[in-house]
Amino acid sequence: MIKNGFYFTILGADQIFKMPREIALKYKKSVRGKIFHIETFLVLRAKDVERILTNSTQHLTKGFVYNFLHPFLKTGLLTSDGEKWHTRRRMLTPAFHFNILKEYCEVFKEESDQLVEIIKATNGKVVDVVPISTQFTLNTVCESAMGIKLSNLGNDGQKYRNGIYQIGKKLIHRSMRPWLHVDFIYKLLGHLREFEEILKPVNQFTQTIIDKRRIDFNNKKMNKKEIEKEADDNENIYMGSKKKRFAMMDTLLQAQSEGLIDDEGIIEETDTFTFEGHDTSSACMSFTLLLLAHHPEVQEKLYEEIQMLLMEKMILLLMILIK
Ligand code: HEM
Repeated sequence: MIKNGFYFTILGADQIFKMPREIALKYKKSVRGKIFHIETFLVLRAKDVERILTNSTQHLTKGFVYNFLHPFLKTGLLTSDGEKWHTRRRMLTPAFHFNILKEYCEVFKEESDQLVEIIKATNGKVVDVVPISTQFTLNTVCESAMGIKLSNLGNDGQKYRNGIYQIGKKLIHRSMRPWLHVDFIYKLLGHLREFEEILKPVNQFTQTIIDKRRIDFNNKKMNKKEIEKEADDNENIYMGSKKKRFAMMDTLLQAQSEGLIDDEGIIEETDTFTFEGHDTSSACMSFTLLLLAHHPEVQEKLYEEIQMLLMEKMILLLMILIK
């Protein structure tokens, strides 16, 4: 086990990526292991974790690796637990109600059109899809959840994405070196200072988003009375019955105006959602593209399915027009 642990410390990111895949191929089932003092469970089938996730009140806190995110995300929704997690979760869940997501379709369409143009401009050359998909998901999450168009913020989006890439590298580096798991040693060896340096443009980006949206929010004078007048549904668990739902950032600003969250809390959640919203979606998209490229027959089926759906929509539209 110790040999395995040290072995991890000399691996590069690409080898760390490959290792669990090789283990999966070899054992063909979920595997329990240990890297130094860290218990790991490589899940191959969802049913192997079903019992742990559905029947246990024991596993409600996050693993210690999440603590490495604290200098970046502090304790936002992803990294918090207990009463704080519960309060924030109740506050933010309505911002992701299906009715709100529907309103984002226009943003998704506009950003997708731009993405298609960017891919077309590569003229069939081999390119790294990750920066392209990250740009797309960051633009989309900022405009939908935060209500901010990144193209209006100059180079800030690019600086943020670079920062997130560096943060990812530092987190992997720390995770794979058990001696750096101790906060005191991490700080003593100068890693915390380096991490904080990387965080500067990232924090700046978050602050810019909040400041910009706050101006828009105040301009709209979204006070409680006005919201109630506009309300047209009664399903909002955050503000009781007959209240309007807001996009995520406005939910936070509204909550602040009611004394339910402070500036620090708004920063925590904005960092959490911007990061969690764009990085995961971008990884998902990049892997989907990778798999489609490896399975051209599936890509073809997907293309045909989209064509068929578009055709059905066209026919429906024509029938409505003829009537
Ligand atoms: C394909 C895309 C996505 C994947 C694969 C994904 C995956 C996950 C996973 C596995 C967790 C649980 C992590 C844990 O508790 O340890 C999580 C939590 C979370 N995700 Fe995502 N996510 C995606 C998209 C998004 C988006 C678009 C947003 C926001 C706009 C988002 C915001 C969050 C937040 C805030 C949490 C913490 C929730 C809580 O603990 O209550 N995610 N996500």
